[in-house]
Amino acid sequence: MIHLVRLVTIHPLFVHFTIGAMPILLLTYAMAAWLRSEPWTFAADVTAGVSAMLTLFTLAFGLVSNAYVGWPGGLGFWRHLHMSLGVATTFLIVVLAVSRLAMRQRGQLVAGYAAFGLAVLVAIAAGAAGWVGGEILTYTAGMAVEGAGEGSLSPLPAGTHQPTDLMDAMGQARADWGAATSDLARMVVQHPTDANFADIARRAARLQQAAAWIAANGARTLPRPDALVGEQGKPAATSPPSPGAPAQSFDRPAIRPVREGAQSAPDADESGTAQTRARRLQKMAKILQQRARALRDAAERKDIVEVARQTGAISEECAECHKDLRWRSPSPS
Ligand code: HEC
Repeated sequence: MIHLVRLVTIHPLFVHFTIGAMPILLLTYAMAAWLRSEPWTFAADVTAGVSAMLTLFTLAFGLVSNAYVGWPGGLGFWRHLHMSLGVATTFLIVVLAVSRLAMRQRGQLVAGYAAFGLAVLVAIAAGAAGWVGGEILTYTAGMAVEGAGEGSLSPLPAGTHQPTDLMDAMGQARADWGAATSDLARMVVQHPTDANFADIARRAARLQQAAAWIAANGARTLPRPDALVGEQGKPAATSPPSPGAPAQSFDRPAIRPVREGAQSAPDADESGTAQTRARRLQKMAKILQQRARALRDAAERKDIVEVARQTGAISEECAECHKDLRWRSPSPS
C-alpha cells in the first residue's frame, strides 16, 4: 500500500525546516552582531520567529512518531537521547525568538553577540538531534522505514558488552539476527562474497554469546519466571488440527496450574506439560545457541544453502520462544 505521507513521516518532513534554517540563523545573527546592523537583525529575528514556530511542529510530530513507531528492544538509549535533544532544541529556539521579540518591542533593533551565542547553541542541539534521528534511528536502525521491516537492522552495539538484562540481550540478538538475515537476503540474490560469509560468521558468533547469556541469566528478569507453561504451542502429533479449525489465537491462555496426577508423557521431563517459564527460556536459549553455532560453521564453510537453512532455523527459534514466553497471556484462573 502506498501512502502519500504516513503519520510517522511528518516529523522527518518538518525536521528539514528546522535544520534548513540553521545556516540562515547563524549567518544573520553573526552579521547583525558584527555589523551592528538593523536590517541583518530584522532578517535574523524573522528567521528565529519562523523557525521557532516550525520547530514546535517538528517537536509535536516527533512526539507523535515516538508514540506510533514500533520501537524494538535495544534502542532505548538512542530513542531517549533523540527526544531530549529535540526538546532542548525547541526550548532554545523558542527562548531565542521570544526574547528577541520582547527586545524589539523595547526598541532594541540591533541584536548582539548574546543572540548569536544562543543561535550557536540552537544549531549544536539541532545538529546533534538530527544526527541521532537520521544516522542512528533512521539510516542504521530503519525506524519507520517500511522496507527495513520492523524486525530488521538495529544499531551495532559499540563493541560487545555483557547484557544488563533479558531485554538488553534481546536487543543484541536482534541486531545480529537482523544483520545476518539482511546479509543473507543480499547473498541469495547476488553472488555471495567472502566478506558476506565472514560477516555472517561474526554475527552468528555474537548470537551464540547472547544465547549463552540468556540461558545462564535470562530468567532473572523474565516476567513471571515461576509461572507454568504447557506445550499447546506445538501441534500435538496425535491430534493434528482438523481442517477448518480456527487458527490458534495468541491470546489463548496457556499457563496452567500443575494438575494433580497429570499424566506424564514419556518425555515429560523434556516437554512435559508443567514447566516453569524460566526453565523453558533456558532450554530454548540453549537450542538457539546450538543453531547459532551451526550457522557459524556453515558460514565458515561458505555453504550458502546451509547458511540459508540455519538462518531460517534461527528465525524459527525466535518465533517459537516469543510465541511461548512473550505473547501468551497468563491464565486468569
Ligand atoms: C529463549 C526464548 C527466546 C528466544 C530464543 C528469543 N527470544 Fe526474544 N524475547 C523473549 C522474551 C521472553 C522477551 C520479552 C522479555 C520481557 O518482556 O522482558 C523477548 C523480547 C524480545 C525483543 C524485545 C521486543 C520489544 O518489545 O522491545 C526483541 C527485539 C527480541 N526478543 C528479539 C529476538 C530475536 C531476534 C530472537 C532470535 C534471534 C529472539 N528474540 C529469540 C524470549 C526469546
